[in-house]
Amino acid sequence: MDSRYNGYNFISALHLVLLPMVLLMCSPALPAIAISCEFPAVFNFGDSNSDTGGLSATFGPAPPPNGETFFGRPSGRYSDGRLIIDFIAESLGLPYLSAYLDSIGTNFSHGANFATGGSTIRMQNKTLFQGGFSPFSLDVQTWQFTQFKSRSQFFFSQGGVFRDLLPSEELFSKALYTFDIGQNDLTAGYHLGLTTDEVKETIPDILNQFTVAIKAIYWQGGRYFWIHNTGPFGCLPYILDNLTLRAPEVDRAGCGSPFNGVAQLFNSLLKETVLQLRKELPLASFTYVDVYSNKYRLISHAREYGFEHPLVACCGHGGVYNYNKNFGCGSKREVNGTEIVIGSCKEPLKRVNWDGVHYTEFANKWIFDQISEGNFSDPPLSLRMACSKEAP
Ligand SMILES: *[C@@H]1O[C@H](CO)[C@@H](O)[C@H](O)[C@H]1NC(C)=O
Ligand SMILES: *[C@@H]1O[C@H](CO)[C@@H](O)[C@H](O)[C@H]1NC(C)=O
Ligand SMILES: *[C@@H]1O[C@H](CO)[C@@H](O)[C@H](O)[C@H]1NC(C)=O
Ligand SMILES: *[C@@H]1O[C@H](CO)[C@@H](O)[C@H](O)[C@H]1NC(C)=O
Ligand SMILES: *[C@@H]1O[C@H](CO)[C@@H](O)[C@H](O)[C@H]1NC(C)=O
Repeated sequence: MDSRYNGYNFISALHLVLLPMVLLMCSPALPAIAISCEFPAVFNFGDSNSDTGGLSATFGPAPPPNGETFFGRPSGRYSDGRLIIDFIAESLGLPYLSAYLDSIGTNFSHGANFATGGSTIRMQNKTLFQGGFSPFSLDVQTWQFTQFKSRSQFFFSQGGVFRDLLPSEELFSKALYTFDIGQNDLTAGYHLGLTTDEVKETIPDILNQFTVAIKAIYWQGGRYFWIHNTGPFGCLPYILDNLTLRAPEVDRAGCGSPFNGVAQLFNSLLKETVLQLRKELPLASFTYVDVYSNKYRLISHAREYGFEHPLVACCGHGGVYNYNKNFGCGSKREVNGTEIVIGSCKEPLKRVNWDGVHYTEFANKWIFDQISEGNFSDPPLSLRMACSKEAP
């Protein structure tokens, strides 16, 4: 094995040995909860649920009214404001993550974001231009991470402004590595014409590829992994508008049950995959976070939590779900010789769904507040304690 890897293992092992000692020293005076991991950086991998500018930098900007609620302008996010990953960064006291693919105005001193809208775990055979998905699948994102790590270290060592823009080497083993990806692999199967049972059969291979990606990061020194499961995509307008024509069964909340069934199977196998990773990579900590049940609870009990019309897009056009894939949020349409822009609803702060595919800032904040304290995590560790292996 490469000696560099041993170096990382040693640093991390030291870190893990020190933590219980610190706990011991503090325990008479302070409850264990007072110790926090102090993550100095976040490296994120995923799809549009956590894209902070990657797809925009590559294929053209997410248009207004994206960003209207928080940033006051489009910010490369598919939402009216912040995403869960933004609330994670805020909560750790770190700046919002720059997209790795963005070449202008970026600052990677506290991490980088490799997620892009439309990303899958498995490499896809159809390009974006053939109605397919993002070319930046998870394996590509890990190659980008490898490139980022070596090049940032080369430039960091040159000093000057680079020291203000790039992470130091030690940040890579102390950082939190976050993942929110998988939904597009499942919908991609349907778009290839697979049945629900056939899509389910692809899950083990999808998760094998996920494991490969996690290990690639582990062998480069990553130790703290925060993994979101996939959401109830059967409740999203873009699925309800299209795929429920093929599998029309809906539940009491109005969500497409076959699709949510696929998401649930993916999640239970993802949880098993994480258990296996814990055994194989003993120096790492893995927190599996159940985002699904919170998104589903929000949608099925929207009124109780102060939201309205959970199955209807705020920014969209036409039909039961205010969604039409040809007239997406922010796109332009000609009506009787006049150009109209597909705009936002009156009260985005009461909505769950932003554009038929993504959540509003208000919903993202609600979900973040549910998951950040560890109530829906395995082990039940809060975000700032996610460097531990078990609850205090
Ligand atoms: C891509 O095509 C190959 C060869 O037909 C197939 O084995 C593979 O499963 C396909 N990948 C996806 C994600 O559909
Ligand atoms: C990059 O961000 C960090 C943290 O916010 C800040 O301290 C640093 O000055 C920034 N670098 C530049 C060149 O603006
Ligand atoms: C559903 O989506 C597929 C793939 O994007 C597309 O070919 C098909 O026309 C859509 N069907 C409807 C009814 O929108
Ligand atoms: C467009 O013009 C037709 C014919 O004058 C009219 O019936 C229709 O309501 C107009 N559509 C809109 C959206 O104004
Ligand atoms: C998490 O659980 C604790 C203890 O049961 C409870 O006090 C707290 O309100 C819960 N937080 C959330 C966001 O559900």
